Amino acid sequence: MPLPRPAPITAPGPTGAEMLRAIRRIRRDPVAFLQSVRDEHGGVAQFPIPRPPTYLVSDADAVRRVLVTNASAYGKRTLQYSTLALVTGDGLLTADTETWRPHRRILQPAFHHVAVAAVAGHVARAVDRVDRSWSARCQASAATRAVIDVDETMAHLALEVVGRALFGTDLTGDAARLTTATLQALDVVVGRARTPVSAPAWVPTPGNVRLGRAVARLDAAVTSMLAERAVAGTEPRAPDMLDLLLVGGELTPTQVRDEVVTFIVAGHETVAAALTWACYLLGRDPVAAQRLRDEVDGVAAGRDQPLEVADLDRLPYTRAVVDETLRLYPPAWLITRRAREDDVLAGVALPRDALVIISPWLVHHDADLWSGPADFRPQRFLPEGGAPDQARSAYLPFGAGPRMCIGREMALLETVLALAGLARRFDITPVDAAPVRPLLAVTVRPDGGLRMLVRPRL
Ligand code: HEM
Repeated sequence: MPLPRPAPITAPGPTGAEMLRAIRRIRRDPVAFLQSVRDEHGGVAQFPIPRPPTYLVSDADAVRRVLVTNASAYGKRTLQYSTLALVTGDGLLTADTETWRPHRRILQPAFHHVAVAAVAGHVARAVDRVDRSWSARCQASAATRAVIDVDETMAHLALEVVGRALFGTDLTGDAARLTTATLQALDVVVGRARTPVSAPAWVPTPGNVRLGRAVARLDAAVTSMLAERAVAGTEPRAPDMLDLLLVGGELTPTQVRDEVVTFIVAGHETVAAALTWACYLLGRDPVAAQRLRDEVDGVAAGRDQPLEVADLDRLPYTRAVVDETLRLYPPAWLITRRAREDDVLAGVALPRDALVIISPWLVHHDADLWSGPADFRPQRFLPEGGAPDQARSAYLPFGAGPRMCIGREMALLETVLALAGLARRFDITPVDAAPVRPLLAVTVRPDGGLRMLVRPRL
């Protein structure tokens, strides 16, 4: 059999020996490694990988070309997405262009702003539940405060909200089971993505067995929801997103299952990460935390009822805190594409089938685009702070172009209202001054969780 031809080298990049020497660094701190590749070799760099030819694209114009202006030349047939598809099937996030296009059209109405506005009520209920749980923990302590793993709380909150939004079902009872199944499945998926050669999914390695079980649990939860729906049938109730998926019978049951699992996976960890990092950053910046509290108190003054969609316009600083959090810690830190045809990016010839790696994290920390890129400065997203246009167009927490996050509006509404709702009731401060290490897996989460001190406000 003839040996595969090595990939043509069309861009500068690290040598094979340099990659081997960096292996531990890549595992420990992948972003720092990518950053060093960008710094040394420029905005389009090539890795010494024969097949597929693999490029790190961090030049802002080249990123835009891949995701927006020449998006049809790039698909999602990449290791990252095909591994994720072991959990999500052919759902919207992982589907390649031909399957994706009609599905996006069918699913778009489920994310129409009228449907999304209902999420405010789900957030209010979830915040109430957190309030009861945190308050009980604080009352149990003589000092009326408690150390809470905020990361864990946010994971439950985000799962509850996405569950209610999609299915109208109260997922709190199932939350732990579903969270575990999702995290376990994603864990295996991350392990596979990091291993250059993985056993096929049908080989019963311990990882594959865990993946199989976790996917079965996810499937069971979804199936029981669909069965409940069939029985509940004609009861009058507000339509949820699952109703919108089932409308018209355009999707097969497998396709409905894939989209449902996709929404849980895509809409749960990402939102939880955003909320967790927002608490972390506010905890380290008392001035920003106070400004947010003042804003929320001004909006909520004299009211008992929860914050609602109409309040969003009066929470610009809270929104800026969320925007800045998503800049510093973009939960989706890696986006990949496969070139469907030859292309030229920033003067570099890219062959068909090339793998393109884009890291929103890298672009968001580019000192040529952002002043003080490592600093937490929410005001840069306010008119007073005026982030330059070129930076705004390189702001990618939700991706860009036709494959941009379908849940963006819902995610922003959810994070702003949840953050404001919790700030209205609690002071959330750091336990100590030690910085928390980000763990870059499918999303970016704090390594070991995020323990913070929580105290009800008087
Ligand atoms: C802060 C929260 C979120 C972040 C940071 C985020 C980020 C992203 C990013 C970067 C992409 C594009 C990936 C690519 O181009 O390859 C994406 C796509 C997607 N997201 Fe989100 N997301 C969030 C919340 C949500 C929510 C709440 C949902 C649904 C309930 C959701 C569902 C999806 C889906 C289905 C896609 C695929 C869209 C398509 O290709 O048509 N996301 N998300």
